[in-house]
Amino acid sequence: MKNQSNETFTHGAVDLRTEYQANPLGIDENKPRFSWVIRDLRRGALQAAFQVIVRSGNQVVWDSGQQVSDQSNHVEYQGTALHPRTRYDWSVRIWDAEGKESDWSTAWFETGLMAPGAWNAPWIQAKRDDLEFCDPAVQDKVFSLPFKSADPKTGGGYCYPVAYLRTGFTLDKTVARARLYATALGAYEFHCNGKRVGDDVLAPGFTQYEKRVQYQTHDVTDLLHPGANAIGALLGNAWYCGTISGKEKYGSQARLSAQLVIDFVDGTSVAVNTDNTWKWSRGPIAFSDIYMGEKYDARLELDGWAPPGYDDSAWGETESVDLPALAVVAPPAAPLRRISEIKAVNITQPKPGVWVVDLGQNMAGWERLKVAGPAGTEIALRHGEMLTPDGTIFDNLWHAKAAFIVVKKSDAEETFEPHFTYFGFRYVQITGFPGEPTLDTITGIVINSDLPEEGSFECSEPLLNRLQQNIVWTQRANFHSVPTDCPQRSERLGWAGDAFIFARTASFNMDIAAYFTKWLQDMDDTQDENGLYSDCAPRIPGSALKLSAPWADAAIICPWTIYLCYGDKRILENRYERMRRYLDYRCAASDNLTYNGYSWGDWLNVARNTSAELLGTAFFAYITGLFAKMAVVLGKSEDALKYGQIASKIRERFNEEFVTRSGRVCGETQTAWVIALQFDLLSPEHRKIALASLVGDIERPHGNHTSCGFIGSAYINHVLSDNGRIDKAYQLLMQKTNNSWLYPVTQGATTIWERWDGWIHEKSFHRGAGFHHDHMNSFNHYAFGTIGDWIYQKVAGIDIDNQAPGYKRILIAPQPGGGLTYAKGTCESIYGTIVSSWQLEGESLILDVTIPPNTTATVRVPSAQGAQVTEGGVPAAEAPGVEARGWESGAAVYHIGAGSYRFTTPQAFAGSPAKK
Ligand code: BGC
Repeated sequence: MKNQSNETFTHGAVDLRTEYQANPLGIDENKPRFSWVIRDLRRGALQAAFQVIVRSGNQVVWDSGQQVSDQSNHVEYQGTALHPRTRYDWSVRIWDAEGKESDWSTAWFETGLMAPGAWNAPWIQAKRDDLEFCDPAVQDKVFSLPFKSADPKTGGGYCYPVAYLRTGFTLDKTVARARLYATALGAYEFHCNGKRVGDDVLAPGFTQYEKRVQYQTHDVTDLLHPGANAIGALLGNAWYCGTISGKEKYGSQARLSAQLVIDFVDGTSVAVNTDNTWKWSRGPIAFSDIYMGEKYDARLELDGWAPPGYDDSAWGETESVDLPALAVVAPPAAPLRRISEIKAVNITQPKPGVWVVDLGQNMAGWERLKVAGPAGTEIALRHGEMLTPDGTIFDNLWHAKAAFIVVKKSDAEETFEPHFTYFGFRYVQITGFPGEPTLDTITGIVINSDLPEEGSFECSEPLLNRLQQNIVWTQRANFHSVPTDCPQRSERLGWAGDAFIFARTASFNMDIAAYFTKWLQDMDDTQDENGLYSDCAPRIPGSALKLSAPWADAAIICPWTIYLCYGDKRILENRYERMRRYLDYRCAASDNLTYNGYSWGDWLNVARNTSAELLGTAFFAYITGLFAKMAVVLGKSEDALKYGQIASKIRERFNEEFVTRSGRVCGETQTAWVIALQFDLLSPEHRKIALASLVGDIERPHGNHTSCGFIGSAYINHVLSDNGRIDKAYQLLMQKTNNSWLYPVTQGATTIWERWDGWIHEKSFHRGAGFHHDHMNSFNHYAFGTIGDWIYQKVAGIDIDNQAPGYKRILIAPQPGGGLTYAKGTCESIYGTIVSSWQLEGESLILDVTIPPNTTATVRVPSAQGAQVTEGGVPAAEAPGVEARGWESGAAVYHIGAGSYRFTTPQAFAGSPAKK
């Protein structure tokens, strides 16, 4: 490989990140890891060496010196012990292959409190002698809606109105720096001297509250001043003490804890902590609950409560609560925020007095309501994803009510937004509106965990483009502090099965590394002393912990996925012993290695069910094999051997138990064949039989459709294309009749549906019973969106070489087909942007590839054997930076380094759609 030289060129490190975040405020890592992207336009650009210097003020706390290394991600801090509440500046410079050094690039991070035990502010709660809201009947009246999930025994059906808490204090010196470290059991919104602190929504987020709660760090320096100051918060119920899954709650009432630490210019400091001198009052939010929604009565607003000087003498007392066992930790990932706004596209009036506003996009978040009309007018907003034939919203909320009720305080125009709830919706149904709403009345506010959106896919088939957009919208709508199943009904839970099948797709669309770092902590917090993990994290309060494969296997599959996509070894190291304990439990609880625990099966499959034992055993082999691979990565060779052998034994058991001597796989379902093939559980002879049976089943009884549920559908196209049947995979992908990925798109879907038959044009909505009752019909569920990774990997052609994770070595291998004439994928890796874009021109194919600096790639150009492939107009083998590696299975193979390349193959290639 030869570098192109360019005299005017500058190279250097950009996009500096500490623990995946740009300039994070408040991290608790003792050894944070630094990453950067290299800017360098030359072909084959590599980092030959780097130097990192970390400073606290003028003092150098770590100088790595010049390290001869191409490592540009996860460079671990190795300096003197970091102090809490301290800002560190770090700089990096790099050397290229020619030994030329770059300029320094700089970034910073600030430590938080650095230890769960360092949390020393008391927890406080409103001292309440009023219990009227604890009576569901009264609550019904307040909320003006029937309240379904009330269970007086468990307390699932009620919650308190939002409390306003405040205190005042005086400062007599100039403030140099002030940080508010804030958390709640429940959700908070802080105000300092009348101004809203931060832009988080539903902080501190959803965690396993008995064990762990996150605190946020806010820079409030500019909000304080010498003289009288005031600080206060709205405190809502959210996930902690609202209704969760209609069962028990995590706690009985919301609690607040905060430390406002103020450093003065004279070098002294003071802390204003929550304590029982804080006062509380009810305010306008009469009711607030994640599932049920909110009631905001503007007539009850507490004018001027947040600035100093407010007379709170009539407010109630607070009391402090001791919670010594609770770990209070800095969040590893970005919070929920308002991400974007959506304008209404249509309004209808299906019945007198009932208006339905269409936002044109199914989404999660809430709305802003703008309304003029008499004081005291009560307006109710309800939320729907679909409309019934009479034009009103379809109710698929199960126990949820998802309503936002407001009461006006004046005759003037007022605007309202909820605070501590969210909804999954496309349509807002309005009753009680004074006059006629306009398109300006309702604006959708999209809210989700604020992850960088990074990937893109487009191609010549508009329906497929819409499918991709639907996957991304569904990802946004379900990344709400935890990866949830759906955003509308009374679930919105961190179901682990959904998370592990979707993680790879999710990683293409957004940077999910920090997000899954957080959620894997939630998974860890569900683990019991025997090693058992829950199938849902955080655990549903009051639910029994039982072995539930493959859902709980997410505890092993997700760390591996994050390791592959981001090269993150720490995510494996940090939970290695936990994963081992789970595997050992799974072994002990098995029937001689055959699974015999609980199972959700191949959830929402059609036709025959796949046996729980078969699925559980197949996944047991898979995750044990993954653990053996992790052991290799972490240099634990004995474990690698041991668990590799166990995986082989499970594979043998699988064959004894579920495969006949003639090669039939028990149950003969598409998912059984898919899983057996995907996890490489069959002998070569039986593989052929399974593949033929799978293809036969797709074709004959199902007329070229899949019958797989969540599990099988995540792998079916991979299995087909990896086993020489890319044609069948494309046929399934491009199928437009039900069951298929594109059927919902043809019906106007703007998100991924939970069920293949959620709504069928000829039959209307899915009808069911038991677990599958009519309300179990979400239109915003990402599980069937797992086709996304196949689209990126096989249609666009971007993949990881698993031997060099994190896209250090990239695989570019598009497999054109399905009648497409072009496809383009981009992926923002930890090294920078990867592009794979192909188009057909007549019989030839043009493949444009961009590989980021400091990586290499294997490119497979679909091509007939012996065809003259060019790059940049010259024979590819002679092009600068391109190494020919022969021809293999329908593709000319090249090795390339960083840079942009255009390959052209002038002759027809195997699999050309023009040849079908
Ligand atoms: C959720 C699923 C989840 C499942 C467990 C459902 O109600 O919506 O997505 O995985 O429960 O089977």
